[in-house]
Amino acid sequence: MPPREYPALNLTAANHSLAPVRSIAVTGGKGGVGKTNLSVNLAASLAGLGKRTLLLDADLGLANVDVLLGLSPQYTLADLVSGRCELDEVILEGPAGMLVVPAASGRRHMAELQPAQHVGLVNVFNDLQRELDILIVDTAAGITDSVLTFCQAAQDAIVVVCDEPASITDAYALIKVLSRERGVDRVQVVANMVRSPAEGRGLYDKLSRVCERFLGDVSLNFLGAVPHCDWLRMAVQRQQAVATAYPASPSARAIAEIARRAARWEAPAAPRGNIEFFVDRMIRQGAVA
Ligand SMILES: Nc1ncnc2c1ncn2[C@@H]1O[C@H](COP(=O)(O)OP(=O)(O)OP(=O)(O)O)[C@@H](O)[C@H]1O
Ligand SMILES: [Mg+2]
Repeated sequence: MPPREYPALNLTAANHSLAPVRSIAVTGGKGGVGKTNLSVNLAASLAGLGKRTLLLDADLGLANVDVLLGLSPQYTLADLVSGRCELDEVILEGPAGMLVVPAASGRRHMAELQPAQHVGLVNVFNDLQRELDILIVDTAAGITDSVLTFCQAAQDAIVVVCDEPASITDAYALIKVLSRERGVDRVQVVANMVRSPAEGRGLYDKLSRVCERFLGDVSLNFLGAVPHCDWLRMAVQRQQAVATAYPASPSARAIAEIARRAARWEAPAAPRGNIEFFVDRMIRQGAVA
């Protein structure tokens, strides 16, 4: 039977029953602070908790989720953008049963997409006919349109910082632009590569003080700290997630705790009225309620 249409909402009955998806972007402003490692291991930990998790590699020009996980994708987002395949064909399975949408590396045109194409990439997830609980989005470094759009489109943004002055200033710059230009008013902070729990808290306090002073309308929450960990580096060398390769290691345990906290976040009851991942499922839920 062909899918029934709901013209007012431009929805079809085919994915009418799909539950809403919690979306979380991982970002940071500065390069090399551990965004991709946090994304990959957060996704693996959430999958380990039984959450149906999709990890999107949104570092469009220099993708490396597939490399970190030792995956060999047949298709990437570059094939999707050029119309060679559908989103469903790009998805492959990673550790702990998580699903991965890999991007391409070294395709300059992917790093230079137009703002409307970034919006298009967000909206293409509406067509996905899969039951999911959580989407994790690994963003690129910087404050380019792609980073801003993917953060804006996610319900929560995790900003990763580490103990370097430029990390705090870049994180602040990113939060400022997200709040002023994209209406993001809530940010989760993870301190990475810390040498002690106090260092993690101290990094958060530093960032939170400067945000409070200059950006009164953004609320920050300290989500947790991940220690500097040689097991994580070893897992990277073996192209595995530390969460699955060395689950008892300090970094894996810290990320597992962050995953438990994130898994408890309440899904927003209604769309925020702007660009948003899986917005159709949310509208539909409201429409049927
Ligand atoms: N907790 C940690 N302990 C030890 N090393 C870490 C930790 N987190 C990340 N690293 C190392 O830091 C480097 C950068 O990590 P990663 O690629 O995740 O950063 P990124 O922010 O995604 O970088 P980019 O901005 O280039 O995308 C990697 O070599 C990784 O092994
Ligand atoms: Mg990265």
